[in-house]
Amino acid sequence: MSKKENISLSVIRRLPRYYRFLGELKKSNILRISSAELSRIMGLTASQIRQDLNCFGGFGQQGYGYNVADLYEEIGKILGIKENIKTILIGAGNLGKTLSTQMDFHSFGFDLIGIFDIDSNLIGTTLNSIVVKDVSLLEEFCKKESPKVACLCIPKEAAEEIAERLVKLGIRGFWNFSHYDMSLEYKGIAVENVHLGDSLMTLSYRVHDNL
Ligand code: NAI
Repeated sequence: MSKKENISLSVIRRLPRYYRFLGELKKSNILRISSAELSRIMGLTASQIRQDLNCFGGFGQQGYGYNVADLYEEIGKILGIKENIKTILIGAGNLGKTLSTQMDFHSFGFDLIGIFDIDSNLIGTTLNSIVVKDVSLLEEFCKKESPKVACLCIPKEAAEEIAERLVKLGIRGFWNFSHYDMSLEYKGIAVENVHLGDSLMTLSYRVHDNL
């Protein structure tokens, strides 16, 4: 079923959206859906949907459409949503606090097991049942727990040094909110740079003509 190797990143980036829509259909007890109907609610063409899903072997049946629960399960598997990858978060300030308490890492396939900061006022406090640790304990913690993903909620100036340490400690993926652009530096490491400001600037451009 899953032939991950040659799948383009643009297809992968559409999968979470399929997963979300199918999850909503499942909640509404919808058992099956045609590619035409799925394309209508998602604003994609039916042929795009067929092409995307064919990358993984295709899941639809001629004249039947897609079984919602099966497709939801399969896409979840492709995305690795049940794998619970051990994850740490660096920077327990405003953003780190919000993410660690409001984001349900677990339901996206990540298990948040450690939070680190440099600030003695934050070290020892608890976020989402996790005690914030001194970042100087990073090496000891990673050797013991082997986390594979790190969420960076630290300032740009601190991010390069921390990222280098973390790569040496076996981190293989970064959810990077610091404005340090990591993607060029770390070949073979998965990096998702998140810049909420980019989305806002895109909105600024798009709304401009309607003001
Ligand atoms: P904050 O100042 O509240 O928190 C930053 C935390 O990082 C502090 O607790 C600080 O002690 C800690 N820190 C600094 N150096 C560290 C190090 N070497 N090791 C461990 N912890 C360290 O800032 P806030 O609002 O939480 O933002 C964090 C960063 O994320 C900022 O650089 C901000 O520009 C950026 N940001 C990015 C967004 C995005 O969309 N990518 C959105 C909002 C903020």
